[in-house]
Amino acid sequence: MAEERLQKVLAQAGFGSRRACEELIRAGRVAVDGRIVTELGTKVDPETAEIRVDQQPIRRQPLRYVMLHKPTGYLSTEDVRAEYPSWKELVQTPERLFVVGRLDHDSEGLLLLTNDGELAQRLMHPRHEHPKTYLVEVVGIPDARKIRRLQHGIMLDDGPTAPARAELLSELPQEYRRLQSRRVTAAGEDAARSRPTRWLRITLYEGRKRQLRRMVALLGHPALRVIRIGLGPLTLGDLRPGKWRDLTPGEVRALRDAAGGQETGQSSRQDGRERKTKQLLPGMIAIDGPAASGKSTIGRRLAQKYGYLYLDTGVMYRAVAAVALARGIAISDEAAVTALARQIEIQVLAPTVADGRDVTVLVDGADLSWEIRKPEVDRVVSPVSAYEGVRQALVPQQRRIAGQGPIVMVGRDIGTAVLPDADLKIYLDATLHERAMRRYRERLDRGEQADFDQVLADLRRRDEIDSGRKHSPLMPAADAIMIDSTRLTADEVMKLVQGLIERWRRP
Ligand code: DC
Repeated sequence: MAEERLQKVLAQAGFGSRRACEELIRAGRVAVDGRIVTELGTKVDPETAEIRVDQQPIRRQPLRYVMLHKPTGYLSTEDVRAEYPSWKELVQTPERLFVVGRLDHDSEGLLLLTNDGELAQRLMHPRHEHPKTYLVEVVGIPDARKIRRLQHGIMLDDGPTAPARAELLSELPQEYRRLQSRRVTAAGEDAARSRPTRWLRITLYEGRKRQLRRMVALLGHPALRVIRIGLGPLTLGDLRPGKWRDLTPGEVRALRDAAGGQETGQSSRQDGRERKTKQLLPGMIAIDGPAASGKSTIGRRLAQKYGYLYLDTGVMYRAVAAVALARGIAISDEAAVTALARQIEIQVLAPTVADGRDVTVLVDGADLSWEIRKPEVDRVVSPVSAYEGVRQALVPQQRRIAGQGPIVMVGRDIGTAVLPDADLKIYLDATLHERAMRRYRERLDRGEQADFDQVLADLRRRDEIDSGRKHSPLMPAADAIMIDSTRLTADEVMKLVQGLIERWRRP
């Protein structure tokens, strides 16, 4: 028989993943034909070589693939000190099996066990993103917006979640209905008694610690039960809780296909598919948030990096306010300000002069790019933008611009009112103090006079008006991904948002 790498032979003999086997070799615990081998590249003929691990000869075991319906209260890991029994109490085979993809002790359902270290390693490689499907019983009834948030991504402590599939079920699928009546935990019963519960079907393409439970809890619908019913090509079907079975040859083949056939874990077809997915970018990105939360910095950088159009809608409201001031129109005169908004022509262009401006803003042909940034404008722009007529004049122009191509649009109501169908919605926030500090430094950097307390008071006032107004108030869209940038640099926020964009897919 042909020679093979020692770590591969060990993996196939049930000593864990190839990486784990490499560790065994490095640690000097593996001997071939009586000699300790610590070199990783060593090749052996598994048929003839006498291989020992910790002095024990290894036995070539048949490869075994088992599906267990893990009940709650069993661990998928093997912590002997733990307070729960492990899956090993339920499955006894002569082969040394290990778990592919863990399942929390309070979760139930499909657990894959095998002694095929090769395949296990490929299946667990994060690049593959094998789908895992769960039935989740939650407290309360999530509305359509929350379901959309599950689909698009939710900001967790350890970063945003990848797009997922999520749907609210009217009842459990037929084959799982018998699982319905099983007792839930005492805490769950308490919660369930006072509120109705619902079943969701959710498919994740990533697996972080207790991710699913954290996602639904964050939406205000804690999980009572989590049942895994799908793992890659496998489905749980009618396997009873606590029971196990060997996979059929067809299932094993499907698993191998899903894992990719090459040593490196990547088939060329999969590489191609991955590239294609990466190129698929959201067509419309909405970024909302309060003043000085970093929206325009991030919006501009994104547009530049990915080749989007960029529109900061705030400058349009600023243009109306600046012209009103210049023409001596009383800001409190709603009719006059509204008429002005309808009458003037605002153009927002890429910078036409290299004087440090973000954009060029022309009103009826006159360059007001710097006028609109003055503190006087800052002070009146919020009341101006609160007028319904002003919004009615500007929003259609914003939508028209969005029709011209892939766009990053920044403002207060983009995700909620201007582009409610945006593909990706981000809500950027930071504490008032932090935002005031940023604005204050900006002013100083531009060589302007600034008083921190005044900047803070002005921002507070604008927050109140922007969030408290009747028409299109500032608030996160239900399906927006929230990012708090208080303790993040612009680079760090960019990294998070780039992650969202690159992992974006239509749900
Ligand atoms: O983002 P900014 O500070 O340049 O915005 C100026 C004002 O315009 C802000 O206080 C509220 C208003 N605005 C709005 O009402 N809707 C938008 N989409 C963008 C800005």
